[in-house]
Amino acid sequence: MTPAAPPKRLFIKTYGCQMNVYDSERMADVLAPLGYGMTDTPEDADLVVLNTCHIREKATEKVYSELGQIRLMKLARQEAGGAMTIAVAGCVAQAEGEEIMRRQPAVDLVVGPQAYHQLPELIARTHRARGERLAADFAAEDKFDALPTARNASGVTAFLTVQEGCDKFCTFCVVPYTRGAEWSRPAAAILAEARSLADQGVREVTLLGQNVNAYRDPDAGGGLAALARALAKIPGLDRIRYTTSHPRDMDDELIAAHGELDAFMPFLHLPVQSGSDRILKAMNRGHTVEAYLKLIEKIRAARPDIAISSDYIVGFPGERDSDFEATLALVRQMSHASAFSFKYSRRPGTPAAALPGQVAEEVKAERLARLQAVLDEQQVAFNAAQVGKTLPVLFERLGRHPGQLVGRSPYLQGVHAQADPSLIGQIAPVRIEAASKNSLSGVLVESPVQAPALEPL
Ligand code: 5AD
Ligand code: SF4
Repeated sequence: MTPAAPPKRLFIKTYGCQMNVYDSERMADVLAPLGYGMTDTPEDADLVVLNTCHIREKATEKVYSELGQIRLMKLARQEAGGAMTIAVAGCVAQAEGEEIMRRQPAVDLVVGPQAYHQLPELIARTHRARGERLAADFAAEDKFDALPTARNASGVTAFLTVQEGCDKFCTFCVVPYTRGAEWSRPAAAILAEARSLADQGVREVTLLGQNVNAYRDPDAGGGLAALARALAKIPGLDRIRYTTSHPRDMDDELIAAHGELDAFMPFLHLPVQSGSDRILKAMNRGHTVEAYLKLIEKIRAARPDIAISSDYIVGFPGERDSDFEATLALVRQMSHASAFSFKYSRRPGTPAAALPGQVAEEVKAERLARLQAVLDEQQVAFNAAQVGKTLPVLFERLGRHPGQLVGRSPYLQGVHAQADPSLIGQIAPVRIEAASKNSLSGVLVESPVQAPALEPL
């Protein structure tokens, strides 16, 4: 939950036509979820927007002279230890673009009439550039922006937060506003925590971050691959996973590490969100379907037995039947071990919430049901394909039936087997005999194998 942010004051000066009056109201609407309420005077405003008009002669010069005065207010505010953000919107912004910021450096951002939905992102980026965190007042709903809470080390698996925040600004997502800029923990602190977890019996860690593969050690500069290599050297720490990744941050070094590190489990959660390039663009994902598929090909070349999981959103604003069909086609091509799917949920303050073409609830529900039917089929098939194979299982706890233990396969499947409780915390080979949608069961194979090589899928 995000605590309620202190109110911030917004002053908008509207020049010109009725259209601009309407646009100013829209700007006030998209800024309200960031905590901005209207004020009548620029002097005490935290954000001043000049919504300009080009139509009359000398209009531009008038804007510059007005900006000169607002600059003085901004300076006075800074001297008093505060801050003011100045934005220029409307037709002059459209026509003059960055020229405005060159002529009047006190201006923080310029936004044309077609881009008001991007105001939250632009404001958030301005605050970040100043080293301030935007205390957004987004509706308290953790569903999409919370990391799993760190589990304590009583078990054999643990989460380990290595990174927080996000710089990607997908247009549907609150994380860049609620969690702030991408930030990584120093590797030394992570390694110390991992050692202590391993000492307490943890055998598998899942490295957590909203954009975990954007990890960069603030001290030595190494990325996630370097961190994983160091973690893999810790005695007892046999398994390493990480979530959630962005396709754009999946660099060659990390891909290579998947082929080289036995500790890296052959299961990767790499959300694509949609199978339509048009929708990916509107989502500001920064990758196409083709780029994603090429990436998957590279990852599979490095680690042939890897299984891929993803997140999908259906009913993003403007999503047509043909876009949704493209998503289904991608899902079929990917053949996931498992994946999450969501109906697009309109989050006020995010750019997509202000987009036209919001999709009706029934259409979203129908698309989600169709998508989930395919994903369920794939999960069942993936689990069924394990029958007859021997998988290394990390036993975690007692099962519900007498003499039974429950553990996890490399693919995150729950595995049930009859086994002695002394095997809790151990990795042992289990021959899989049965599979359902949510779990596997099998029998312990006598000779313990240390992480046997897995067959390609
Ligand atoms: N509506 C629907 N799904 C969303 N997600 C994030 N924000 C939204 C939203 N507004 C999903 C994305 C993301 C996952 C954590 O949650 O698929 O990858
Ligand atoms: Fe949200 Fe993930 Fe996109 Fe960041 S990369 S904005 S956390 S969906």
